[in-house]
Amino acid sequence: MKTQVAIIGAGPSGLLLGQLLHNAGIQTLILERQAANYVKGRIRAGVLEQGMVDLLREAGVSRRMDVEGLVHDGFELVLNGQLSHIDLKALTGGQSVMVYGQTEVTRDLMTARADAGGVTLYEARNVQPHDMKTDRPWLTFEYQGERVRLGCDYIAGCDGFHGVARQSIPAQSLKVFERVYPFGWLGILADTPPVHPELVYAKHPRGFALCSMRSPTRSRYYLQVPVQEPLDEWSDERFWDELKSRLPGELAQRLVTGPSIEKSIAPLRSFVVEPMQYGRLFLLGDAAHIVPPTGAKGLNLAASDVSTLYRILLKVYREGRVDLLEKYSAICLRRVWKAERFSWWMTSMLHEFPEADGFSQRIAESELAYFIHSEAGRKTIAENYVGLPYEAIE
Ligand code: APR
Ligand code: PHB
Repeated sequence: MKTQVAIIGAGPSGLLLGQLLHNAGIQTLILERQAANYVKGRIRAGVLEQGMVDLLREAGVSRRMDVEGLVHDGFELVLNGQLSHIDLKALTGGQSVMVYGQTEVTRDLMTARADAGGVTLYEARNVQPHDMKTDRPWLTFEYQGERVRLGCDYIAGCDGFHGVARQSIPAQSLKVFERVYPFGWLGILADTPPVHPELVYAKHPRGFALCSMRSPTRSRYYLQVPVQEPLDEWSDERFWDELKSRLPGELAQRLVTGPSIEKSIAPLRSFVVEPMQYGRLFLLGDAAHIVPPTGAKGLNLAASDVSTLYRILLKVYREGRVDLLEKYSAICLRRVWKAERFSWWMTSMLHEFPEADGFSQRIAESELAYFIHSEAGRKTIAENYVGLPYEAIE
């Protein structure tokens, strides 16, 4: 078997890269460990930066997003029970974000790939890249009981944090940067109207809370919980009571509760691997970096990696610009580290750290107070939240 670009992983990174390359006439094959229905069912992020929205439009997969997605021109930060509005549009000269679930993005990309006749092999087992440092890399995997060899020009490792791509690079060729937080987010999805028209990020002595949404009739809420918290100790009732206790009174009163349709706990982590490439193997999205979700950056960073590799490969195939290949990692990492910093910073300011002394707590409160009450501070938050620009590939 042969293809031009072999893609490991059919999450948003792999599917979006596959769609863009396919539209450009570059052959791709996607290898995914899970079944298609499992991939479709995952509930993940929900806020798209303008850069990602534009990339989805460029890929021709924005029809449903443009109808059903919710354009948000701002969000709320809560300190000491007071709401402070971050007017994204006014503070950034007209930019906004799109609230549209990653689950929906993934569905749209899967449909588009099927319609375009692109091949995704689901339930491909034991994928293993080989000879990445040569100009004839190849992969082996098992599919429907057969052992398969796939030759290719390039390999895109889009297989998430636990994938095989990063692990197949010799450890001495990689440097890992990591921070693990002593808490996670307990998330709930419910068919109830969102408590507020915009997202609400609340700092509270009992722990951080976030009110988000997927549509005018579907809400997504999160609570900071200790990292080892057992999920089965959180009945829906306990979740709603705890959420109300962390929200300003007017919001708590207005909150419409209902049965959860999904409930899960996600640990919070910052992680970056350098470099994001090894010969002809490139790492994209969660395979290369993880951010805590407080800045809504995880999915958006995956999109900017995809944009970078796509634009480089276009120039490689069309103009013979192989010199660009070695620049991939450095271009991505400049943007990745800025988003890592923003995500770490928002997480540090908004959460309660179990080991923090009184001084550290006051500093975090005072930092948030300064940023929300200063025009320059709000601008800094807004500029990062809507997403920093993508670097041009020249
Ligand atoms: N072989 C084949 N596929 C694999 C393997 C493997 N060894 N390991 C993992 N995969 C698949 C996973 O099953 C998954 O479908 O790779 C895919 C990776 O998808 P994601 O984890 O969603 O990662 P990515 O596409 O980079 O998406 C960006 O940013 O903030 C996050 O939650 C957000 O998941 C999103 C991510
Ligand atoms: C979500 O809706 O899932 C969401 C929104 C904003 C975040 C994180 C998650 O910062």
